[in-house]
Amino acid sequence: MGPITNRYTELVGIDHPIVQEGLGPFRTPRLAAAVSNAGGLGTVSMPGMPTDLEAGARTFREHIEECASLTDRPFAVNIPVGVDGDGTVLPFTEVYIRTVLEARRSDTAIAQRLTVLTTSAGFPGPFIGPIKDSGLIHQHKVGATRQAVKAAEAGVDVVIAAGFEMGGHAPSKKVHTFVLVPSITEAVDVPVVLTGGARDARGLAAALAMGADGVAMGTRFITTTDNDWHPAYIQALLDAKEGDDVAFDGVYGPCRGLRNEASQQLVDASGHDTAPDGLSAVELTRWKIDSMQRAQNEGDVSGSLVLTGQVASAINELVSIAEFVPAMAEEAAQILRRLAANLGAPVAG
Ligand SMILES: Cc1cc2nc3c(=O)[nH]c(=O)nc-3n(C[C@H](O)[C@H](O)[C@H](O)COP(=O)(O)O)c2cc1C
Repeated sequence: MGPITNRYTELVGIDHPIVQEGLGPFRTPRLAAAVSNAGGLGTVSMPGMPTDLEAGARTFREHIEECASLTDRPFAVNIPVGVDGDGTVLPFTEVYIRTVLEARRSDTAIAQRLTVLTTSAGFPGPFIGPIKDSGLIHQHKVGATRQAVKAAEAGVDVVIAAGFEMGGHAPSKKVHTFVLVPSITEAVDVPVVLTGGARDARGLAAALAMGADGVAMGTRFITTTDNDWHPAYIQALLDAKEGDDVAFDGVYGPCRGLRNEASQQLVDASGHDTAPDGLSAVELTRWKIDSMQRAQNEGDVSGSLVLTGQVASAINELVSIAEFVPAMAEEAAQILRRLAANLGAPVAG
């Protein structure tokens, strides 16, 4: 048991209320296992949207199996609910959710470890029943209080409150964590996890003070010694300064990454009918995903999309996950104890 236990750590069965959230379309089984082994909750990310979705499903299953072979602690998977212009859910979401349910049905070792499914992007309505019936804990990431209430009323177990400073796809309402999190914790009864901008114990202590039950980080976990990201990508995040990030049109709405040639092309094209290189909408989506994967796998950090949160500007060193996660929880507990000790006695009456 860790120094900070609460209804979220008890629900999910983890030592520390610290989550490595989905980082698709990159492969994260090793990273997820390292975070779960350190007492947090790691997440296996969605593997992109290949034209051959069954091939994508096989890759996803391999990533899940790899993570289950590296940890015997609980871990999660992240599956965005992709929605097209008409509001129709894109086929990859259903295929990947089916893959997860089937992996748990067919393999008890996976079922014991893969106990949490996080949806993000669109509303997961029709998937909530099957996810819950399978015995999974369902977390859903939202960017607005109204979305949090809707998800909690529909039966989601945990809400992840995502502020606009976050890395990757960011909420279209553009509300930042400091405004969003207290509004959401006030509006729903289920556990709430802050995502966006957290990087250390101070962020965790602040999240708890705002009524949240934990933090989910992306950028901080990319800049660790325990993952498969290309070294040039990691270095670009370590080098980033305030103002080096920008929001551009991503695959499911606004997306945050480093300012470079690739993101500038999307910023320039925003609001115009012309996509970069005259691509159609479908081709443009593929271009974006290929570009993200090229940056992550090949380290092309100037000509490809380098997703990161604004918090990269404040991260200057690599950390080891095994040391970092328990130390972050311990230091957050110390901060809260110190603050409580500095308070005077309650005023009588
Ligand atoms: C490279 C990258 C890829 C991401 N991919 C996904 C994803 O596939 N699904 C998702 O729900 N969120 C995704 N996110 C958002 C993260 O899960 C997390 O919420 C975010 O990084 C939190 O903000 P932070 O970077 O300030 O910690 C991604 C973020 C980054 C930086």
